[in-house]
Amino acid sequence: MRLGVCYYPEHWPRALWADDARRMAELGLSRVRIGEFAWSRLEPEPGVLTFQWLDEAIESLARAGLGVILCTPTATPPKWLVDAHPEILAVDAEGRPRRFGSRRHYCFSSEVYRQASARITRAVAERYGRHPAVTAWQTDNEYGCHDTTLSYSDAAAKGFRIWLRTKYGTVEALNAAWGTVFWSQDYPSFEAVDPPHLTVTEANPSHRLDFQRFSSDQVAAFNRVQTDILRAFSPGRDIVHNFMGFYTDFDHFKVAEDLDAAAWDSYPLGFTEQFWLSPEDKRRFARQGHPDISAFHHDLYRAVGRGRLWIMEQQPGPVNWARFNPAPLPGMVRLWSLEAVAHGAELVSYFRWRQAPFAQEQMHAGLNRPDNTLDHGGQEAAETAKTLKALLEDPGPDRLNLARSEAALVFDFEADWMSRIQPQGASFRWLRLAFETYGALRRLGVDVDFVRPGDSLEGYKLVVVPSALHASEALVSALQATTAILVFGPRSGSKTENFSIPETLPPGALRALLPLQVLRVESLRPDLEAAVVVDGVSYPAGDWREDVEADFAPEAVFADGGGAWWRFGRAHYLAVWPQEALFDQIARKVCAQAGVAVLALEEGVRVRRRGTVTFAFNYAPETRTAPAPKEAVFLFGGRTLNAGGVCAWTSS
Ligand code: GAL
Repeated sequence: MRLGVCYYPEHWPRALWADDARRMAELGLSRVRIGEFAWSRLEPEPGVLTFQWLDEAIESLARAGLGVILCTPTATPPKWLVDAHPEILAVDAEGRPRRFGSRRHYCFSSEVYRQASARITRAVAERYGRHPAVTAWQTDNEYGCHDTTLSYSDAAAKGFRIWLRTKYGTVEALNAAWGTVFWSQDYPSFEAVDPPHLTVTEANPSHRLDFQRFSSDQVAAFNRVQTDILRAFSPGRDIVHNFMGFYTDFDHFKVAEDLDAAAWDSYPLGFTEQFWLSPEDKRRFARQGHPDISAFHHDLYRAVGRGRLWIMEQQPGPVNWARFNPAPLPGMVRLWSLEAVAHGAELVSYFRWRQAPFAQEQMHAGLNRPDNTLDHGGQEAAETAKTLKALLEDPGPDRLNLARSEAALVFDFEADWMSRIQPQGASFRWLRLAFETYGALRRLGVDVDFVRPGDSLEGYKLVVVPSALHASEALVSALQATTAILVFGPRSGSKTENFSIPETLPPGALRALLPLQVLRVESLRPDLEAAVVVDGVSYPAGDWREDVEADFAPEAVFADGGGAWWRFGRAHYLAVWPQEALFDQIARKVCAQAGVAVLALEEGVRVRRRGTVTFAFNYAPETRTAPAPKEAVFLFGGRTLNAGGVCAWTSS
C-alpha cells in the first residue's frame, strides 16, 4: 500500500527536479508516474531520440528513493507524425477527422499508428526497461477518453470487414444474424459493409453492437502490442493502464487480460457533477462526491485487475473539466485515499504534483500551487501518508488481507452497449441501473465484489445481476452452479447474442432459473407515476415496467395488481426499475434470505471491511456516527465522524 503522484518533469525547469523529488519523499510518497504525454520531447523529429532529459529526471527521482511508473507516450502522437501520416487520425461519427491540438487524436485501427506506437514503446522500453528505479509501466493514457474508442476511419472500416468475415464466415450468415431483410439492408458481400454511422435514422442495432465489439477488440489489440514489447524489455515490472470512471465503451476485462493490475482515475467531484445524479444529490454531495461513486469503481476495477487495484490519478482539489468545479470539503482527499485502501488499492497516486500555470489544465489543482507552495491536497496527502504508515504498523498488513465478499454483482459491458443502442426509454441505461443496484447494497453496509459474466460465482451468498440483457451460456451455467440467492434486474435475458428477441420471449435462456415470460415492456415518463406495494406499503417505482406471466404468484405488485417483483425458489426477477426506497426494501429482503449481514447506517455513511479492520466514511455534509460495536478498538479516528471524516477499527 503506497502513495504516489503524477509528475511532468518536462513542464518544469531542471533546477526544480531534485527539490521536487526530495519534497515528494518527505511528504510520504514513494511512486511517481511520468512520461505519458512526452512524445514530442522524446522524439522532436522523426527518429531523433532525446532521452537525456528523461535520464536525468529518472535519476533525480531515484536519488530520492522514489520508484518510477513510466508511461508509453502514445496518447499524444506529435505534430510531425500527424503531418506525415494524417491517416492515423480518428474519424468521429459525423465523418470528421479529429484534429491535432489536444490529445487522443489517433485511431485504434490505424496500422500505421500501431507501428509508430510500437516503435516509440520499444525505444523507451529498451532504454529504461531494466532501470532499477523503474518499477512499473502504464500503457498510453485513459483509452477512450474524450469519446475516442469508436472511430469511423477507412482503417476502421477495413478492419471491421475483416472482423466480420472472421466472425460470420459467409455474408449470408451475417445477413441472417442482423436481420438485414428489414428495410432492405441485405449485404451482397463483406466488402459492402460500412461502419454504422451517418445513416438517415437509427442504424441496425446488431450492426451497431458488432461495431462496438469490434472497436472494443481494437483497443485490446492496440494495448497488446505495447504489453508484448514491455514484457520483453522490462521483465518483472507490473504493467497497468489507467481506466476511467463511468466509462464502458470497450470491454475492460478483455484489455486487462494483458495487464498485471487495473488502475483507474478517481475524480469524485467531477463525476458527481457530470453524470445522471439528481439535482438534489449533485448539490448535497458537490464537495464530497456521491458516496457510492468511488467505491463502485474500486470494486469494478479490483475485478478488472483480477484482484489487483491501483488508483493512478486521485483528485487533489478542484478539477477544470466538469460543468462546475467546487473544492472538496476539508478531509475529503484523505477520505477518498483511505477508502481506496479499504477497497483493496495497492497504490493511490495523486494527480498532479504541481498545478500547471500554462495550457489546458491551468485551472486544475495539484498537490502544490503553481508557485510551489503546498496546496490543501498536498497537506491531506501528507496526513494520509501518516495514517497509512500507522495502519501498516498496527495492526500490520496481514490483518488487512482482502477476503471474498458475501455479495457479488455481475458487471456486463455488453449489456451497457445494448442498453445504449436501444434504450427504449430516454432514461434507461444499464450503467445507471448497475450503479443504483450497487448503492442499495452499500446503503446496507454490504461489501460487494464485481464479477465478469461467466466467472465462477462459487462462495457467494448473494449474486445480483443488474440486467443481463443477453444471458450467455457461460453466465447461465455459472448461475446454475451456485446455491446463492440470485436477483435479476429488468430486461434480463431480453436479447440474443445477435441482438434479437429470444424465440421464447424474455428472459430467454434465463427461463432455466426463472420459469416466467415477459409479455410486454413499457418505459414511463418521469411524470407517469407508478407504484409498487410491498407488505402493504406503497413505494414509487421507477420508469420501467414489464408485464410478466407466470404460474406462481408475485412477491409484490404494482398498484393495479400486476406483478412487479417475482421470486421462484432462489431466483428473484424485478419487472420494474425500483427507486431508492423500493430498492432498499428489496435489498433488505434478499440479504435476509441469503444470510448476508446488514447494518443500520446513518445517511451518507459507508463502511468497508478489509481483513479484521472495518473502515467507515462520512460522505454527508453533517456529523455522523460510525456503526462501530462497543468493543471496537479504533486504529484511527473515532465513533464521531465529522463531514469528510473517516475512521477504522478492529473488533477481534
Ligand atoms: C484525466 C487525465 C489526466 C488529466 C486529468 C485531469 O482524465 O488522464 O491527464 O487530464 O484527467 O482531471
